[in-house]
Parts: sequence; structure tokens; C-alpha cells
Amino acid sequence: MPRFSASVSALRSSAIRELMSLASRPDIISFAGGMPGNELFPVDEIEELFRGLDTKTKQAAFQYGPTPGLPSLLESLGGFLEKKGLPLKSNRLMITTGSQQGLSILAKAFVDPCDRVLTEYPCFIGAIAAFRSAGAEIVSIPVDEEGLDIAMLRKEAARPDPAKFLYITPYFHNPAGMLYTSERKRELVEALQGRDIPLIEDDAYGDLWFSEEDRERLTPIKALDPEGIDICYMGSFSKILGPGLRLGWLLAPPAIYEKCELIKQSADACSPSFSQVIADAFIRSGRIDGYIAIVREEYKRRAACMVEALRQHLPTYVHWNEPKGGFYIWLTLPEGGDATEILKRAIEGGAVFVTGSTFDPDPSGQRNNTMRLSYCNNTPEEIERGIPIVARAIREVCG
Ligand SMILES: Cc1ncc(COP(=O)(O)O)c(C=O)c1O
Repeated sequence: MPRFSASVSALRSSAIRELMSLASRPDIISFAGGMPGNELFPVDEIEELFRGLDTKTKQAAFQYGPTPGLPSLLESLGGFLEKKGLPLKSNRLMITTGSQQGLSILAKAFVDPCDRVLTEYPCFIGAIAAFRSAGAEIVSIPVDEEGLDIAMLRKEAARPDPAKFLYITPYFHNPAGMLYTSERKRELVEALQGRDIPLIEDDAYGDLWFSEEDRERLTPIKALDPEGIDICYMGSFSKILGPGLRLGWLLAPPAIYEKCELIKQSADACSPSFSQVIADAFIRSGRIDGYIAIVREEYKRRAACMVEALRQHLPTYVHWNEPKGGFYIWLTLPEGGDATEILKRAIEGGAVFVTGSTFDPDPSGQRNNTMRLSYCNNTPEEIERGIPIVARAIREVCG
């Protein structure tokens, strides 16, 4: 019998994961994944860009590269991020193998087994997995429609043994879909200042806004550069170019960056050079902004279609918000609603989503009355066929 480590022995496949494997029928309509539509990828543009590169650059694409990233991409990405007001000069930028790797690196940098870390409730599942596998004890703080519960954050921040960090996804949250207000971000900063609790600000979806008027709320906390708080800002090419590239980034204060670079060296030496050459060419060609504008419009169209279908078909006792950007809509059922049973029935009917308990950092998983629907990977026609199936399953279970 192989003698596995304590951390891997504690990993369990969830009942939900087993349910989801039933959902691999080709005819099923999936509102489960957080992935871009395949038909949206800029395949022709990338082919043309790669063909146009000189031989030296093409060869470098097949070669190992420096651990923090190819200098050319660090420069072009730095320019892209500076337009968001991010403080590139006083911080260091690192390319990561997806922003998922950034989460694993930060977990390794800060967490010893049984250390407390703070997250939102609900929380991106990849972050829960990364923090758990480092042995963290996760304390989750609920979010409402404007952001994190500040009273609870203040209580946690005032403890004599403060948590190792706070992780948040303030811009088109995964899974809750919402966008933090500027006021809530200001209160969050005040609660953390001088507390020695670094902030991990995950901005995987911020470019996918639907309305100009929300843009002010999208200014990263990192861009405000508040005093007395270390902020590690993370982003990704996954939702604005393609997750198959496996490229993300981490912008961190120098002392944190140095540890992260050492950790990355032992993890994978460098992120894929091929992807980095492509991402660099895409930014330098000036096509990235136009492409983001196209996908933004498409996700807006899909979101509007799902909103319309939910308005038509959902019972009024289900609470949900119109998305302002990103990929997700979060549904809250009445107290005691059984999202697992609804999922079972929806799968039988031909549609699948993710139960909210999947995003609950509390392993006892008592809360089961929420659901996440994503609209990013469905045609309007699929949305119009799939939402009535989900609505029917809700009525069957909740009445
Ligand atoms: C909030 C959030 N952060 C990070 C990631 C990880 O993205 P990637 O590793 O593909 O860059 C995702 C992916 O869905 C996400 O939703």
C-alpha cells in the first residue's frame, strides 16, 4: 500500500463530482462550466500572428524561459496593466501557469498546516483547493450584493493571532457574480490597514464588464495602492484569450515576490514559453483590446438572454441578481431548499449547473440552498431550452 502524505490522504471526491460525471451525456445543456465558448477563440488571428514572427522568436517559443516570465511579455503585459492604474514600478510582476498557480504559490508562501486564512463565502473552488492542500484552516466571511461582510472582517482582523491572508474576487465574483462597491472596498482596506494580513485580490473577470457606468467600481484595490497593507494582485489570460494557454500573472510587493519566485522555480521552472510568445504577440499587435471588446459584447448578449429566461421561468421565491459582467448568476432558494436534489432532477431533464455548496469552504457543507448558473458557454437557443428544465426541477423540489 503506497504511504501517501497526510495532505493528499485528506483529499476526497465529493458527491457532487460524482453527480457531475452523470452529466457528460452529449445532449445535456451545461450551465456548469466557467469556460469561454470554443467558437470565441481568436484562432485565425493567432495563426496569422505566429506566422508573422521571426525565426528567433519562434525558436524561443519552444525553449525554456526565465522563471518569472519572458522579458518581452513582462514588458507588454506591464503596459496592459499600467492602463488599469496598477503600480508596476513599486511592485514585481510574475507570469504564472494560470492564475491557479498563483494561488498555489501564495498558499505555499504563507500557510503552515493549521494556519487560518480568510476567504469569502462563497469562494472560488480552485482557491479552496489550493489553500486546503497547503493545510490551511479556512475561515469564510459571507458576501452580500456589495461585497464582504465588513463587521465580521473587523472581528477577524482584531484577533491577537491574525489570519495569514484574506483572499477576495471583487470583480464579477465566481461564483456569486457580484461586483464590489467602491465603498465596500474602502471599508475593507480600512479594516486591514496595519493588521499584517496581506490581501490577495483575484481579478480574473474584471475586463468583462457590460456597462461603461460600472467601470469606476472596477479599479483594483491594488491600483489605489493603500498604505499599511500588502496586496498581491492576480489576473489571467484564461477569460480574455484562452485557458488552454495556462497563463496568469501575479503583481506583488518585492519581499513577497522574491519568495514566490523561489516557489515557482521548484514547481515548474517556467510557464509555457509557447503560450507566452503568443500572448506577447497578441498584446503587441494591439488586437487584445478589440478582442476583449468582442467577447464582452457576446457575454453581455448571453447574460441578457439568461436573465430574460430566468425572469420568465423561475418561481418568484428564488432570489438572484442581474449580472453586470463576468460569467455567472447566483441563485438563492428559500431556506431548506435542496440544490443537490434539484441538480439530480435537472440532469435527468437534460441540463446541469453547479450547486452552491461546492463553493463552501466549510467542509461540513450545511448550506445547500444556492446554485451557480453560467451563461458563458451557451448559445441563446441553448439557454432558452435549458432554463425551463432547471426551473421545472426547482418547482418539483421546492414547490
Ligand atoms: C476567480 C478565479 N480565479 C482564478 C481562476 C483560475 O484561472 P486560470 O488558472 O485558468 O488562470 C478562475 C478560473 O475559473 C477563477 O474563476
